[in-house]
Amino acid sequence: MNNHFLDLNNYGVEDLERIIKNSLELKSKNKVSDALEGKFLGLIFEKSSTRTRVSFEVAMTQLGGKASFLSVNDLQLGRGEPIEDTAIVLSSMVDGLVLRTIDHETQLKFSENSSVPVINGLSNKSHPCQLLADLLTFYEEKGSIKGKKVAWCGDFNNVCFSYAQAAELFDFELWVACPKEFLSVEDYKFKNVTYTQSVSEAVKDSELISTDVWISMGDETESKERIEAFKNYQVNEKVLDQARSDVMFLHCLPAVKGQEISTTLLDDQRSRVWRQAENRLHAQKGLLLELLN
Ligand code: CP
Ligand code: NVA
Repeated sequence: MNNHFLDLNNYGVEDLERIIKNSLELKSKNKVSDALEGKFLGLIFEKSSTRTRVSFEVAMTQLGGKASFLSVNDLQLGRGEPIEDTAIVLSSMVDGLVLRTIDHETQLKFSENSSVPVINGLSNKSHPCQLLADLLTFYEEKGSIKGKKVAWCGDFNNVCFSYAQAAELFDFELWVACPKEFLSVEDYKFKNVTYTQSVSEAVKDSELISTDVWISMGDETESKERIEAFKNYQVNEKVLDQARSDVMFLHCLPAVKGQEISTTLLDDQRSRVWRQAENRLHAQKGLLLELLN
C-alpha cells in the first residue's frame, strides 16, 4: 500500500474496501480508542474547510491522538519557505499530514519530501477523502456499489474526478452530465464513465445521484458564465423522480441552494447528505488507523 493518500487509485480496491469496512465497524461500536495514542497529525490548509478539518481533528482525538490546524498564513510557508523544506521539517516531528491545497502539484512536491504519510484533503484535481465517505454511505445502506448506475450532475470538478476514479476501481457505471465546454480532454480518459449533456439520461434508473457546487473555491471569477452554463443541470425533486425509486442523493457540501440543488433537496427523504457529512468523521478514522498505526 502506498504511504500517501493523494488519490483514490494510490490504493487498490481491497485496501479501500478494508478501510470502509473498518470505518463502519468503528461507527457501529461508537468506539473511542487509544489506537493512535502519542500520534500527532498536522493539517495544512490553503483553503477554507468545515467538514474536512473538523472530522480529522475529532477523529484523531477519538483515537487517542492529537491534531493541530496550521493555516498557511501562519506558517513560514506563507512567507515563501519552500514546500520541500517545510515537508522535511514537519515530517520529522509529526506522524501524518493532511493538506488542502490550491494546486495538486503542491501535494506531490510535499509528499515527495515527507517521511510520514500525506493525505490529500482536497486539491484542484481531486478529493479522495470525500469519496471514502460517499462510498461508505452507499455501502452502509445498500451494500456493494459494483455494477450500479451512478449519476453525477454538474461540474466535472475535483469531487467528480474522484468519482471517476472510484468508478474504475469499484467497477460501477458513472454517468456524468456536464456541459461540453467544462470537460477537458483529460476528463474523458476514464473507464466506466459515460458523458452526456442530458441530466435525464444520466439519472435514468440510477441508484445514486451526486452533485457539487457550480463554482468551486478558486472559480469565483467565472461565476456569471458558470451559472449560465449549468442552469439546466440542477438536481431537484423532479430529477430524482426519474431515477430508481430507492435512489440515494449525496452532496459533499457546502451547497448553494437554488443553484446546483433545489432549495428543499437536502431534506428530501431520498437525501442522505447529513449522514454523508457525519460519515466524513468515520471514514477519516478508518483511514488514519490504516496510515498512522
Ligand atoms: N466536503 C468538504 O470537503 O467540506 P469542507 O470544505 O467543509 O471540508
Ligand atoms: N468542489 C468544491 C468542493 C468543496 C468541498 C470546491 O473545490 O470548492
